[in-house]
Amino acid sequence: MADKVVLINASELVTCSGKAAKCGAAMSDLAVIKDGAVAMEGGIITQVGKTEDVVNAIRIEEYDVYDVSGKTVMPGFVDPHTHLVFGGYRQDEYGWRLAGQTYVEIMEKGGGINNSVRHTTEASFQALFDAAYTRLDSMLSFGVTTVEGKTGYGLFLDAEMKQLKVYRALQREHPLDIAVTYLGPHSVPAEYKGREMDFINYQIEDCLPAVKSLEVAEFADIFCEKNVFDIAQSRSFLTAAKNMGFKLKIHADEIVSLGGAELAAEVGAVSADHLLQASDQGIADMVAAGVVATLLPITAFSLKEHYARARDMIDRGAAVALATDLNPGSCFSESTPLLIALATLQMNMTAEETINALTINAAAAIDRADRIGSIDVGKQADIVVHEFPSYKYLPYHIAVSTVETVFKKGEIVYERPF
Ligand code: NIG
Ligand code: FE
Repeated sequence: MADKVVLINASELVTCSGKAAKCGAAMSDLAVIKDGAVAMEGGIITQVGKTEDVVNAIRIEEYDVYDVSGKTVMPGFVDPHTHLVFGGYRQDEYGWRLAGQTYVEIMEKGGGINNSVRHTTEASFQALFDAAYTRLDSMLSFGVTTVEGKTGYGLFLDAEMKQLKVYRALQREHPLDIAVTYLGPHSVPAEYKGREMDFINYQIEDCLPAVKSLEVAEFADIFCEKNVFDIAQSRSFLTAAKNMGFKLKIHADEIVSLGGAELAAEVGAVSADHLLQASDQGIADMVAAGVVATLLPITAFSLKEHYARARDMIDRGAAVALATDLNPGSCFSESTPLLIALATLQMNMTAEETINALTINAAAAIDRADRIGSIDVGKQADIVVHEFPSYKYLPYHIAVSTVETVFKKGEIVYERPF
């Protein structure tokens, strides 16, 4: 393939143009160019505009030319919250939930995250790598070109480091880009039940310095929840992580309204995630502090909970991002098409807001809005060709992928086989 590629005659070139999260009403703007073209060279976007203008600006004979008439061209999706490295599965727990038991009940009797911790701790490096690699391939087929991935199924240092090394190998070997998050405090190990602060101190003193020195994890995260880690414990962990140079994320206000959104604003987190029970004050604090609200509607769907207040948040000026939350328990799904369906049908987000939430705002949720998440000159050439002539077909074709071709750093890495 030539180093130079140009896509011409796109029915709609959806640029999502920008270098920072779009807040509130600005989430309605997709900056669409009709009959658009995009040129790339060396994996970077070099020209964006009307086909006629782009063709006039380049020496087209030097390019691989793709005529995408009748198609929509968009930035690659970013999935900014997943737990994609894990061992084993929890299909029995899912059955118990279908029979009426709650996620919290299953967690309290030793199931839940600690069940996956046992499987992941026992799994070989290769088994974890192979399973995660396949999950990344699936995401790519849905048009995802960058993903965030968390640890958190080890809790103790050795098993957490094993997951970090799996992420490092995936970063080297899979075409998707991966932003890695350390989530050691994801659950309270049985031996620390009732001594949660001791476990937090273990995380701060023994784990964070070792994790830092491996130089794989960019973010630190904690499951701040009733019967997991409370606000004071979460504050201690996040503050220590920040002082060591980690950027911050937080699993906040998922099941109980604890004040996780307020804490995210206080500690300057890049994003706060879940937020099903976020308070009005928490939302206001996040808006004021510029914390991205990362919403995970497939998890709410799978847990049969009500959805986060996306509409309220956007109307109050928040920057909302969307993510799948792929994990073996609360949400075993990496389906971007389902995510789009739930955002539009169940959270009353418009098609425009949903697409910005999956591109530029999702990039901002992992602190990469300067490099990815939009089709702008100078950004990485992560570009997806969708079937159909308008972005409006993405929610309309309910829970079905419209992705035909995925360009990653200017090269084709996925083509739909039909
Ligand atoms: O984001 N809420 C905590 N962590 C995950 C669930 C992980 C699991 O159930 O294995 C989440 O939903
Ligand atoms: Fe999560």
